[in-house]
Amino acid sequence: MPKETLVFPFTFFALLFLLASTTFLSVEAYSHRPASAAGRLILKQHMKLLTQTEHGEISAASVTDGTKGPYHLQFITLEPNSLFLSVLLHADMVFFVHTGSGTLSWTDDDDIRNVDIRKGDIYRLNQGSVFYVQSSLVAEREKLRIYAIFTNTEDDIYEPSTGAYSSIADVVLGFDSRVLQAAFKVPEHVIEELRGASKAPAIIHAVHKEKLFGEWQDRLLKAFLGSNRGGFFRSINGKHKKKAYNVFQADPDFENCNGWSLTVDRKDLHLLKHSNIGVFMVNLTKGSMMAPHWNPRASEIAIVLQGQGMVRVVCSSNANESECRNMRYRVQEGDVIAVPRFHPMAQMSFNNDSFVFMGFSTSTKRNHPQFLVGKRSALGIVDREILALSFNVSETTIDHLFKPQKESMILDCTSCAEKEERLMEEEIEREKKEEEEARKKKEEEEARKRREEEEARKKKEEEEEEARKRREEEEEEEAKREEEEARKKKGGRGGSKEKGGGRKS
Ligand SMILES: *[C@@H]1O[C@H](CO)[C@@H](O)[C@H](O)[C@H]1NC(C)=O
Ligand SMILES: *[C@@H]1O[C@H](CO)[C@@H](O)[C@H](O)[C@H]1NC(C)=O
Ligand SMILES: *[C@@H]1O[C@H](CO)[C@@H](O)[C@H](O)[C@H]1NC(C)=O
Ligand SMILES: *[C@@H]1O[C@H](CO)[C@@H](O)[C@H](O)[C@H]1NC(C)=O
Repeated sequence: MPKETLVFPFTFFALLFLLASTTFLSVEAYSHRPASAAGRLILKQHMKLLTQTEHGEISAASVTDGTKGPYHLQFITLEPNSLFLSVLLHADMVFFVHTGSGTLSWTDDDDIRNVDIRKGDIYRLNQGSVFYVQSSLVAEREKLRIYAIFTNTEDDIYEPSTGAYSSIADVVLGFDSRVLQAAFKVPEHVIEELRGASKAPAIIHAVHKEKLFGEWQDRLLKAFLGSNRGGFFRSINGKHKKKAYNVFQADPDFENCNGWSLTVDRKDLHLLKHSNIGVFMVNLTKGSMMAPHWNPRASEIAIVLQGQGMVRVVCSSNANESECRNMRYRVQEGDVIAVPRFHPMAQMSFNNDSFVFMGFSTSTKRNHPQFLVGKRSALGIVDREILALSFNVSETTIDHLFKPQKESMILDCTSCAEKEERLMEEEIEREKKEEEEARKKKEEEEARKRREEEEARKKKEEEEEEARKRREEEEEEEAKREEEEARKKKGGRGGSKEKGGGRKS
């Protein structure tokens, strides 16, 4: 019961206010390639900028993988010694710390918790938490970069229309002064002070906390949380410090001279329990490839952390080209690429640089990527004879196909990315040409239509002109006839007199 009384004000405030909130509406995904393309690429420069101050910025993107979503992503960047002000989370948030360090604070049931976060950490916050983040003032002055995904839990759907979170100030100030006075049991001048204050941006310079959060904020939050503990914004250095999971401290699942890969799911990280998000990270050294594979349970939303690479995504269904098209993508730092489950893909690094990406896999189940080749090939256990029949080749050919490659996951692939890039450019060139041709054809078609219409119009005008002339002639004729008749009548009147006279006589 006490738990419910805690939850109630949150839900209540959130619901009421969010109806009026327009701050964090969902963002469209952008792509320059056709809608039927397998996978979705969002270039860094196409992310929607939500907030930008001198202390940091937040950009966002929504990704649909074609089957589910949208999945909402946010990229939060804090300059050193900055503060991302407290917000009320509307969805589960799983995040990865790309660079920098800081402290994350959030409310958990009836307490405030803090955790130090640093490069490589993965963490999760529950929907309904209020959280804020402060970046460290470190010697190297590295920015704190957080990549977050907001998502539904197993039994709760992320609602794009309500956004990922709302600011505490918005949640409170959506209400009328009288309501607030009564609700908080404070004199009018307190509420007036709140109303009179100019709205703080989402990210500010981190000043001393006592100065920043006055007594009233404490009171508001106490009212919010329904508890009598000593102040919401308790020192960041307070108790309840936990450690986050760090990818660089963990042993990779796979490692060889061509790179390494690591997946983190609920088995590895207790925090991800009841979440449908897993996290992965891959580092491909120069001229390498993540072997062709597909995800049987999860969509993959990857963010490039370092370097650049090529990603090949294949349509695995028997959909035709206007429904699903095999794609090649060139990606670089900050770009996002989403690939739905069952779409085979391969990531490749160029010969001159390593290619590092992390990502979120969206699944309620444990997802084992299925590789095509090597010892762990998903096809390796299928009967050779059946494989031979499936490809309509001899069994010997099948043996030749599967024998040489022993590695499964990360392979040497010198110049593969370069070749893919060339093919992609040719494809784009071809598409452009086709588009150009289609455009020309359309223009010609339109010109022809316009000509025809013009001709039709002219013809109609001519006809009308003719009709008008005819009418004029007829009128003239008519006029003449009438004149004639009138003239005749004049003459005729004498005649009838004569006639009449004639009758008379
Ligand atoms: C990826 O691997 C390369 C080569 O081993 C290394 O230089 C680089 O620092 C690694 N990047 C990350 C983010 O681990
Ligand atoms: C491909 O699919 C589209 C959309 O379903 C359909 O209109 C089109 O006729 C199909 N084309 C072929 C060649 O099957
Ligand atoms: C590596 O090679 C690719 C393709 O040839 C090129 O586009 C890219 O700029 C190069 N990267 C670096 C860091 O030189
Ligand atoms: C297999 O390929 C051969 C030609 O290489 C063809 O004649 C035959 O019909 C194919 N078999 C099937 C089942 O498609």
